[in-house]
Amino acid sequence: MTRKLEIPPFDSHSERISNGMETETDSKGRIVRRFEPLAVLAVASEAFPVIKTGGLADVIGSLPKALLSQGVGARTLIPAYPSVLAKCEDKEVAGQMSLLGEQVTLWASHCNDLELLLVDCPALFDRRGGPYLDDQGRNHPDNWRRFALLSAAAARIAAEGVDGWRPDVVHLHDWQAGLTAAYMRASGIDVPIVLTIHNLAFQGQFPVSVFSELGLPDHFLHVNALEYYGDISFLKAGIRMADAVTTVSPTYAREILTEEQGMGMAGVLQSRRSVLSGIVNGIDEDIWNPLTDPYIAQNYDLDSIDRRRDNRDAVERTFGLTPGDGAILSVISRLTWQKGIDLLAPVLPGLIDRGARLIVIGEGDPSIIYGLAEQARKHSGRVVIHLGFSEESAHLLHAGSDIVIQPSRFEPCGLTQLYALRYGAIPIVARTGGLAETVIDANEAAMAAGVATGFQFHPGSIEDLYNAIDRALTTYDNTGSWRRLQTQAMRTDFGWGRSAERYARLYRQLTRSQAGVTVGDVRRCA
Ligand code: ADP
Ligand code: GLC
Repeated sequence: MTRKLEIPPFDSHSERISNGMETETDSKGRIVRRFEPLAVLAVASEAFPVIKTGGLADVIGSLPKALLSQGVGARTLIPAYPSVLAKCEDKEVAGQMSLLGEQVTLWASHCNDLELLLVDCPALFDRRGGPYLDDQGRNHPDNWRRFALLSAAAARIAAEGVDGWRPDVVHLHDWQAGLTAAYMRASGIDVPIVLTIHNLAFQGQFPVSVFSELGLPDHFLHVNALEYYGDISFLKAGIRMADAVTTVSPTYAREILTEEQGMGMAGVLQSRRSVLSGIVNGIDEDIWNPLTDPYIAQNYDLDSIDRRRDNRDAVERTFGLTPGDGAILSVISRLTWQKGIDLLAPVLPGLIDRGARLIVIGEGDPSIIYGLAEQARKHSGRVVIHLGFSEESAHLLHAGSDIVIQPSRFEPCGLTQLYALRYGAIPIVARTGGLAETVIDANEAAMAAGVATGFQFHPGSIEDLYNAIDRALTTYDNTGSWRRLQTQAMRTDFGWGRSAERYARLYRQLTRSQAGVTVGDVRRCA
């Protein structure tokens, strides 16, 4: 059975005011604001808990719940991968459609706090492997077609609604959803579009030869629309044609406008600068809560932080570390160039000399894995690499490690450091993107002011990484200072509150000022 969206009801005292919100008086006669309900269609390639390869899934899975308290009811459209269909046993057919020559079934399902819409097309999604890669780690060769179909389905829902429900705003996430904007513009669907860039490194770039298969008007193969260095880019389509473009931290929003960090897209982003903003990610504080976490050996909170010790012991046992009092450092990450994992090898001898130990859990690049495996062989019991993706291990490592390292070369937001803070594991992060603005470096002034929560280093610098590890281990040796850091870390507020409010405000601004203004240039050129 499909459950209907539960949007907070309005009571009869409400009074509409000019900005589209509603007011009412509370028991003390004060005016409080209530919101006009808004329906949003979120479009993405993954959503926790039904399918996850990284932080995108966490955001897609947790933002809708936070938006509800802002009067925004979201339905989330994702592909019906086999594992998703298996997890969503409770579903019903919400529609049938023919898109790009394929017969598509649309399922409606409900999972945790998510209202899901599943695009079922076995010819494209019933595959071995993950959402993007086959079981040999290669891109599915028809990824362009798979995510064009997801986007075409989103545009159809924007136009016609589904089981009587219509979105007021369509919110696209990353390149996999980017083409939705093109399909909507091509059919003149006037629903405002928000595009969120979670990672500019992934641009959905495909040979121009596939353009004719997309069912878009010829004039969309234009430098102001899909054309991208002689190829086409689904992300560029979204950036050019959305009414608003956001990314997942204000720092990253600034960084991607520069040639150095714009990854070929800086010019395109500069052309949309007036509608580009950064909204930092939040975390699901129910799922990532050390007091109730079912995956950890011992639950705890700030008042019972000493109980972390049991989780530390569990980490040593589970990962086969040589027991000891030295700090346990963890990396929980995709093992790719972005994440700067290759910077770790040179700092290992210094770290081990000081009695510290390192656990790396992840999957990714074979050459990075090979390098780590070498180190683990060399420093048996002190350096452990655990290949694979395990939600359970990620939770235990946050609860039982002393330090979590993220040496990213760039990081749009990063969620791992937020989970670490919440669990009292002190983050060491590269000073870039969302890492730079969510971790406060423990320099003397910040320590004295009682606001420090971790350690930062210059991105890409092995020397400065070692410096940060050295500072962290020195602080770790001082029980009082370390406890102060942990306290400040655990008190940090990284819930969705403020950011959900910002998304809701953006949606409302767009529904009030009609979409056409900001995309006028695209329409003229395309
Ligand atoms: P990104 O999305 O770039 O990979 P984020 O820090 O935003 O980085 O999110 C990573 C998410 O993936 C977090 O939820 C983290 O716990 C999870 N994760 C990464 N690697 C693993 C792994 N090997 N096992 C379990 N969870 C992992
Ligand atoms: C991407 C980014 C990461 C961000 C996540 C969720 O995967 O690499 O920094 O936290 O998306 O927005």
